[in-house]
Amino acid sequence: MILPASSIVRTFEANNRTSQAHAQRAQAAVPTGMSRSLLRHSPFASFTADAKGVWTTDLDGNRRIDFHGNYAALIHGHGHPVILDAVTQQLAHGTAYSTPAGQELRLANHLKERVSSIDRVLFNNSGTEAVLVALRAARALTGRNRIAKFEGGYHGFSDFVMVGGHALPPVSSPIGVSIAQPDTAGLPLAAQQDVVLIRYNDISAVREAMRRYGHELAAVVIEPMLGSGGVIPAKPDFLAAVREETAKSGVMLICDEVITLRLAYGGLQSHYGLEPDFTTMAKIIGGGFPIGAVAGRADAMSVFEDCAGDRQVFNLGTFSANPVSVTAGYAALQLLDPAAMTHLNGLGDRAREGLQSVIDRRGLRAAVTGLGSMFQLHWTDQTPTDSRAVEAADSDLKILTFLGLANRGIQTSMRGMCCLSTPMDPSHIDHLVSAFDDTVAELIEDGWSSRLLRRSPS
Ligand SMILES: Cc1ncc(COP(=O)(O)O)c(C=O)c1O
Repeated sequence: MILPASSIVRTFEANNRTSQAHAQRAQAAVPTGMSRSLLRHSPFASFTADAKGVWTTDLDGNRRIDFHGNYAALIHGHGHPVILDAVTQQLAHGTAYSTPAGQELRLANHLKERVSSIDRVLFNNSGTEAVLVALRAARALTGRNRIAKFEGGYHGFSDFVMVGGHALPPVSSPIGVSIAQPDTAGLPLAAQQDVVLIRYNDISAVREAMRRYGHELAAVVIEPMLGSGGVIPAKPDFLAAVREETAKSGVMLICDEVITLRLAYGGLQSHYGLEPDFTTMAKIIGGGFPIGAVAGRADAMSVFEDCAGDRQVFNLGTFSANPVSVTAGYAALQLLDPAAMTHLNGLGDRAREGLQSVIDRRGLRAAVTGLGSMFQLHWTDQTPTDSRAVEAADSDLKILTFLGLANRGIQTSMRGMCCLSTPMDPSHIDHLVSAFDDTVAELIEDGWSSRLLRRSPS
């Protein structure tokens, strides 16, 4: 990406020389200088050296409040003492076993208590694995091949869901059901051919997809709030239509709560009253360690049992359900009680209101979306209700805002997704809001008014 000229970029470069040198050196050993493609950005990423509580420190010694939270995973920040203590005790008793680890049962039972649609849970190592296994289970149960997903939905990086995140139809296009474009090179042809792509928050698109493809679909996979696709909540009647239409056509509904489990005590499905067949989880249920889980109603999960015969689906993985991840996850979820949820969601409201007040006071062409402990700023005229509008946002302003906030001690994701953690308090939110206001002031000073403002200041 070619960065626009701006004082923000110059300041970022000047403040992060050690990271810049590291990024250059790292490219000789690791393609692009880092293993995680999504963390890469222009002009270069700052590399983290240390993290404690809400704070991160990079190689140059810059301290930032972590509103990124490793893409929503670190709901208790870094190194929460209760989680550290639980993990430290477990480390002394082994990190991975040659026979099943009994420690997984506590976490499975806790998830069953929390999420009403869940009777059984299987653990693996990531959200990617959880979704991959849930899709297989749906194919085995239905004997069907195709799946459907929504525009902008991210469900990990396995083949059949690594399509349709980007290169979407234009906002104004009447097309609601389409063939998904690949989000990476190297996919098998089937990943495109076998996936039906549906516009998010569009009930008529859901009905059309089911009319055309319902009899061929094994599963519809959906996030009850688009995470990577823009932190865009589902409209309640849209989710209800998805449940009704999938049930009518005998299609398994997979609710991907890898991100959204953090938004309500019983997962976002509890907020909407959604009863999916399968639920996939990861991130917060690992307490900062790698984990994934596929869960669901007893009859759906029976596909993993011996009684499924030649339809039996296997959940594998050398480190699946390792005692460290499930111990950390159990400790993290114990801490995430209803009072913690209220605290987090209240901070989320404060952040959305604070950012909106800057938008209104300055007359910005911007909007804030989100729910509970997550939100995202968009450089768009209207509040986006799907990923098409997010894709159409001003990408220069997006990267400049990200860098401008980083210069002021605020770490967000590059696309602007923000996730709160329980050690935060109102002062951290107020720091974010004033850093945003100052970033906008710098952009105006820098000559960006015509792109930023709804109308010229009088
Ligand atoms: C909704 C959703 N599903 C699945 C995944 C994949 O999870 P993981 O990164 O643990 O493989 C993600 C990751 O961000 C996600 O946001």
